Amino acid sequence: MLVVSGTSRAENRKDLARQCCQPRVPLRLTTQRSGLALDSALWRKYWQPCRAFFEVDLRLVQRLNRLKKAWLNVLQHPADRLCHMTYCWRYFGLLHHAMRIAIEEPRRPDPLSAIRRIVGFETLLLEAVGEVGTAACAVASRNPVFLLGQLAVDPTMPTPRHVPLLMPSGQEDLYYHYRQLQISGTPAQRVLVSPAVDLPRRADSFIPLDRFTRLVSERADPYWKTRARLLARRILAPLLDARREATATEPGPTCILDLGAGTGELLAKAWTYLARMKGALPQASFHFVDANPPAFGRSFGLARERAGVTHVEWTTADYRALVDDDQWLRKSGPFGWVFACRVLDNASNFMIEPIEPDDSDGLSLNCLPHRCLAPHSQPDGIRCLRVSTVRRQARGGTIYPQFSLRDYFRGMLILQSRSLDVARDEAWHLPVRRFNPAALITPSGRSLLAQLMKVSGAVIIEDVDAQPEHLRQHRAQFGLAGTAAVFCTGDGFRTEANHFVVTSPGWVGGLRGERLW
Ligand SMILES: C[S@@+](CC[C@H](N)C(=O)[O-])C[C@H]1O[C@@H](n2cnc3c(N)ncnc32)[C@H](O)[C@@H]1O
Repeated sequence: MLVVSGTSRAENRKDLARQCCQPRVPLRLTTQRSGLALDSALWRKYWQPCRAFFEVDLRLVQRLNRLKKAWLNVLQHPADRLCHMTYCWRYFGLLHHAMRIAIEEPRRPDPLSAIRRIVGFETLLLEAVGEVGTAACAVASRNPVFLLGQLAVDPTMPTPRHVPLLMPSGQEDLYYHYRQLQISGTPAQRVLVSPAVDLPRRADSFIPLDRFTRLVSERADPYWKTRARLLARRILAPLLDARREATATEPGPTCILDLGAGTGELLAKAWTYLARMKGALPQASFHFVDANPPAFGRSFGLARERAGVTHVEWTTADYRALVDDDQWLRKSGPFGWVFACRVLDNASNFMIEPIEPDDSDGLSLNCLPHRCLAPHSQPDGIRCLRVSTVRRQARGGTIYPQFSLRDYFRGMLILQSRSLDVARDEAWHLPVRRFNPAALITPSGRSLLAQLMKVSGAVIIEDVDAQPEHLRQHRAQFGLAGTAAVFCTGDGFRTEANHFVVTSPGWVGGLRGERLW
């Protein structure tokens, strides 16, 4: 187990924040035993692979030189929005014109190397020494795609959704937005971390991500308090009431299983809120399961046990494999409740696809940054940007209507298909994110919910991708006799995620929402 003390985390953050201001292009961040190593390249060296494509054309060389100037300005004036605007204009201009010239002048040498460098600019590969998995990351204050998202609304909450996909230079693999970690105070310096889109490599990609997190951060998910309060009010309180009514006496000790627990703080905090709402609670023990081991200073229950919680246990395992193991379930259960919060969506699928804009998007080519951010279009031009991070349903999944990033996503498609064909049509390409039904199926092909309901009173799911139809389809496939399910809505709360409870029919009475079966 990697043990990191508070002091070394502070030092790691300070050291990284200092390196993140350097006028070198970052390439790779490697987590070592208790520190971090950042590899970077001089500007000239980074762009070396584009020389054959660029150097026969003075226009591209000039564009690159102007991007360098804008990049240096952003490094020197990280809070200056005018510098951000010029930088984004230059970056997206280089990207757009490089792709255009690659199509118009097919005899030019090696366009893909040039596009690869531009798309992967200011994107790092994240690795852990001695581990196979790779993730990606970007330093928010210098990544042009992130800064573009920040430009559009003022003031805006920084979110990793501004950069929905990353493709580090030299790779053809995509990485999807996951979390931001703050590494310095004022001005705030954040690193966006992204796991692999490719499902066979996804689980391993959480390893460097977890190592990096524990080396720089004591903090859990910034939204966990709100989420925990919502869970307690919306789901746990009615379930507890149902349990009290059913037993007619105060329920006995209970064990709660949390799959994909992260730091475990969500469950712990939800339990604390429940105690505040309901007064005395039955004695409880917590069993946390996560693919990554718990970390001192971050994970609940390692340092000391909390009031009302009799016992805390951590198991490091894949949640689907564990739930497949009948012996383990019998030995560790029965459980009062099982949580699966924000873990199923770690298996979601991502595809860049053509998207039909809505009439309400009022879309024109002017939303492309190389057009609307040109100095002569200011100040109104900035309003043409379409970089919303509000989720929208499309093509059976979710998109963010970030049409201004069209060329960025096209560049990724070109690199994946090794063909410029995709850039020839007029379609608007965006990433679509979809629930993966395999998240609810164990490795031996059984239903995760059926397995859990054999040993627990209720399964509580919080998920950003699961929709009611996904649970209904799962039931149609596996039966789930003797269970009931509720999609929890209609109680005045709205969050990004959907909440579902699968339990026995007698327990659903107090839950507000739509009965799925
Ligand atoms: C977004 S965090 C959610 C943490 C917590 N449940 C919450 O809602 O705040 C997802 C967690 O799932 C874990 N995870 C991802 N895939 C997993 C798997 N196959 N088995 C177990 N844990 C997994 C990750 O390590 C991470 O800690």
